[in-house]
Amino acid sequence: MTVASAGRLAGQVALVTGAARGIGRAIACRFAAEGADVVLLDVARDIAGCPYPLGTAAQLRTTADRCAALGVTVVTHEADVRDGAAAARAVEQTLDRFGRIDVLVNNAGVAGPSGLPVHEIADDDWRFMIDVNLTGAFTMTKLVVPGMRRGRRGSIVNVSSTAGLVGYRHFAGYVAAKHGLIGLTRAAALDYAPHGVRVNVVCPGSVLDEPDLEGRMLAEIARSLQLPPEESEEVFVRDQPTNRLVRASAVADACLWLAGAGDVTGAVVPVDGGFAVR
Ligand SMILES: NC(=O)c1ccc[n+]([C@@H]2O[C@H](COP(=O)([O-])OP(=O)(O)OC[C@H]3O[C@@H](n4cnc5c(N)ncnc54)[C@H](O)[C@@H]3O)[C@@H](O)[C@H]2O)c1
Repeated sequence: MTVASAGRLAGQVALVTGAARGIGRAIACRFAAEGADVVLLDVARDIAGCPYPLGTAAQLRTTADRCAALGVTVVTHEADVRDGAAAARAVEQTLDRFGRIDVLVNNAGVAGPSGLPVHEIADDDWRFMIDVNLTGAFTMTKLVVPGMRRGRRGSIVNVSSTAGLVGYRHFAGYVAAKHGLIGLTRAAALDYAPHGVRVNVVCPGSVLDEPDLEGRMLAEIARSLQLPPEESEEVFVRDQPTNRLVRASAVADACLWLAGAGDVTGAVVPVDGGFAVR
């Protein structure tokens, strides 16, 4: 018996968005280590409107290879969560192949364009932030929920942020989208509670960009705030009651728990080293 076949998600099918790198890679690998077959969705290219490079096809492959090495079935989809038709194809193909989706993790997100006060934000930049960070999760939820409802079971985990709990200067688009994601979670939790489908949200604080995961969001946030790269980690750590940045593995652990946490729905789970309770 492999470790995966004895895991907490053995026999389940999990679709993770934004899985090419960073937190998405950590979640996908954690789920695979617990026996889930994983469907890895990522835009896997740069997109207009985002001021920094996004995940790549090679990075998506790396995540897939790591998951496959754990003995589970892995499928990848290069799709933009803003593109309803592409997202629908990915969901349909998953249902054709596996018959169901047990867990959806809406993790895909972008940190910018950011760095300006509200009155200086271009309308298109505002829409871009809402489209990727909030409407993307709405679209994926809409596509996946009918199958979960038919099976009368399912778990959706949204990845918001401490930016969903408190404000951050010069980050209105991100903050509004991440607050919106918590609102979407709470409303959807009530919509689907009678149908056996749970919807919860994790709120990571400042997560360390680990080379092994190739994530780069904290570096991009620092760039938006014009922090010198050599000082940025120290600036973020200074705000952490735990005196250290959050590890992606802790976010993945929270997602794993919520994926299987019967009776927990509509929960907002900070994974922030105490940042938001100060
Ligand atoms: N890193 C942090 O400090 C931090 C803190 C709080 C919340 N978060 C949230 O965690 C999630 C993951 O962040 P990360 O740090 O791993 O960032 P990252 O930039 O390293 O990875 C994000 C992944 O999402 C993908 N993606 C972006 N837009 C997409 C789209 N439109 N369609 C499909 N895929 C898309 C990217 O290609 C990339 O692979 C995001 O939702 C982010 O807002 C991150």
